[in-house]
Amino acid sequence: MTRAVTDHAAGGELSIRPVLGLGEFGPGIDIATELRRAAPWLADGDVVVATSKIFSKVENRMVAAPTDPDERDALRRKLVEQESVRVLARRNRTLITENRNGLIQAAAGVDGSNVAADELALLPEDPDASAARLRSRIEEIAGVRVAVVITDTMGRAWRNGQTDVAIGSAGLRVSHPYDGSTDAHGNPLVVTDIAVADEIAAAGDLVKGKLGGVPVAVIRGLHPVDDGSRAADLVRPADDDLFRLGTAEAIEQGRREALLTRRSVRTFAPGAIEAEVMHAAFADALTAPAPHHTHPVRFVWVRSPQRRLQLLDEMAQAWRTDLEGDAKSPESVSKRLRRGQILYDAPELVIPFLVPEGAHDYPDARRNAAEHTMFTVAAGGAVSALLVALSVREVGSCWIGSTIFAPDVVRRVLELDDRWEPLGAIAVGRPLSAARPRPPADTAGLVIER
Ligand SMILES: Cc1cc2nc3c(=O)[nH]c(=O)nc-3n(C[C@H](O)[C@H](O)[C@H](O)COP(=O)(O)O)c2cc1C
Repeated sequence: MTRAVTDHAAGGELSIRPVLGLGEFGPGIDIATELRRAAPWLADGDVVVATSKIFSKVENRMVAAPTDPDERDALRRKLVEQESVRVLARRNRTLITENRNGLIQAAAGVDGSNVAADELALLPEDPDASAARLRSRIEEIAGVRVAVVITDTMGRAWRNGQTDVAIGSAGLRVSHPYDGSTDAHGNPLVVTDIAVADEIAAAGDLVKGKLGGVPVAVIRGLHPVDDGSRAADLVRPADDDLFRLGTAEAIEQGRREALLTRRSVRTFAPGAIEAEVMHAAFADALTAPAPHHTHPVRFVWVRSPQRRLQLLDEMAQAWRTDLEGDAKSPESVSKRLRRGQILYDAPELVIPFLVPEGAHDYPDARRNAAEHTMFTVAAGGAVSALLVALSVREVGSCWIGSTIFAPDVVRRVLELDDRWEPLGAIAVGRPLSAARPRPPADTAGLVIER
């Protein structure tokens, strides 16, 4: 790979040097003064890589903690909650959360390592600002212009093990995009954007280690370019993050929004819907509630194009006869009939039926009518369920009432039992344009409490 700019070693040599002999840090201690004493060799163009823990210590971000393990753990949990704006995942004792700076990591960075047994460390409040302050302070007292990277240790999704990453930085380009570059083989590097500040953080850790004592390393040979970028720029914006939601959160949101994904779709992309998708949606819909363990609904998936054409043509004819009987003008009749076009055009057509199989037979008309209503609402519920089962599979649909008005035609053309009552027709297909779940409905006046 050829690297075009000078803030990489670009095939040159780097040195990573631990800063030995730094004392214990605490509130009010000036890190720059300590560094100047322990690293008088610091020079222009060096990158100071410092663990966030020393900033926590000098910036009063240490919290007194009980030494009893259970009490300490309880406080740690409380602090994690306080430092987090969102919980992304939870497994056993591990919580992955997002903090106010958008950092997503275990336990919001609340840490009990390399601190006294009676305290816990919180991350610096604004690590980029801490880095910028240290950078100018080093220039002020030592007269050298360095870059600063503040690190914390994080696990990575999909990889075992942790590495150090940059949570604060000043004086360097935090990333190196290769947009428009080509590698030595002529391959375009379209999406390559190297998180240089993270690489620096991880490299510094090679000499700092995790056992304390060496909280700072200095990398020489990188020739950093200050473009004003900050470690915060490496936090991926929520909208660009395919995996922003934790698994539990994503499942919960998917469930909550399932119903809101359905809307009437009246224009479809060409192309049949796969049989497995249709059958999976039917199977979901047939779990709809039903009275006394019956199946009040049947779905007839009209797959034969000839049968569909015959059905729709005959229904249109019956509709025309009805409309002409209403003394509608020829234009008005044609206009209305054109509304039925969707059922000709949709990639798939399903006719739902009310089937009163298992309905109780009463000696009086009142109860028989009530039983019929009960079966009708149950079948309607299953149709609604089918529309939702389709929409959660990104299949659009529109429930069209027309078959209800021509039951004899429908039964005859589809060769079905006389007792089956068509409950409309469902036009099905992939929506021409994708839509987000819509907002829930306004309940005012529609939900009555007594
Ligand atoms: C029983 C029933 C019959 C319907 N008939 C038609 C119809 O003939 N033509 C049509 O375009 N939409 C029809 N619809 C769809 C409604 O117009 C649609 O549900 C309503 O406008 C609300 O929009 P939404 O489904 O996107 O929420 C029908 C809906 C139901 C429940």
